Amino acid sequence: MTTIIPLAEIDPQLVDALLDSAFGEDRHDRTAYKVREGMDMLEGLSLAAVDQDKQELLGSIQCWPIALTDEQGKMHPMIMVGPVAVYPDFQREGIGRAMMAALLKEIQPDAPLPLVLIGDPEYYERFFDFTAEGTSGWTLPGPWDPSRLLVRSGKNIPLPKTGTLGPWKR
Ligand SMILES: CC(C)(COP(=O)(O)OP(=O)(O)OC[C@H]1O[C@@H](n2cnc3c(N)ncnc32)[C@H](O)[C@@H]1OP(=O)(O)O)[C@@H](O)C(=O)NCCC(=O)NCCS
Repeated sequence: MTTIIPLAEIDPQLVDALLDSAFGEDRHDRTAYKVREGMDMLEGLSLAAVDQDKQELLGSIQCWPIALTDEQGKMHPMIMVGPVAVYPDFQREGIGRAMMAALLKEIQPDAPLPLVLIGDPEYYERFFDFTAEGTSGWTLPGPWDPSRLLVRSGKNIPLPKTGTLGPWKR
């Protein structure tokens, strides 16, 4: 049985060990880290999956405040999701889906911000309605594969066609 709890309750060293195992110790060089550089994790939207006794960390999902700056210099706030990680021994047991479902439940229904992530479209499109449609004119502060730059946005929220993603500095 898996329980979802706030990530803030987990020792940060345990989270680092999980992320190193999923993405390697050079993960900090990834473009996703540059997009949210200097930002503090959004604690209300960052979650951990633990075993029933809350003894063992099985997975984590983090969210960050970012913004797309359009050509007029206007910032459009968004939420960056990731990294999403599950320990290899516990993958394909529904933990990734459970963490994302818990996150989506926490998103404010009356003021939803677009969710952005860099990840496998085969997973995030299939289960959570993320899409690369509409992100092809966006640029990032590092290399990226356009098919993996995904967004999940309310149908009635128009997304800027062009712009640069970066930290949300007000
Ligand atoms: C990607 C990840 C978070 C998914 O979590 P999970 O708990 O293993 O996945 P779930 O149990 O929720 O979902 C399992 C289903 O998703 C599919 N799936 C899992 N990872 C997938 C991926 N990377 N691409 C496509 N499909 C994937 C499985 O095949 C399975 O499908 P099925 O039910 O038809 O067999 C996890 O595998 C992981 O940590 N991977 C390494 C780190 C990573 O790549 N993170 C994502 C980038 S931010």
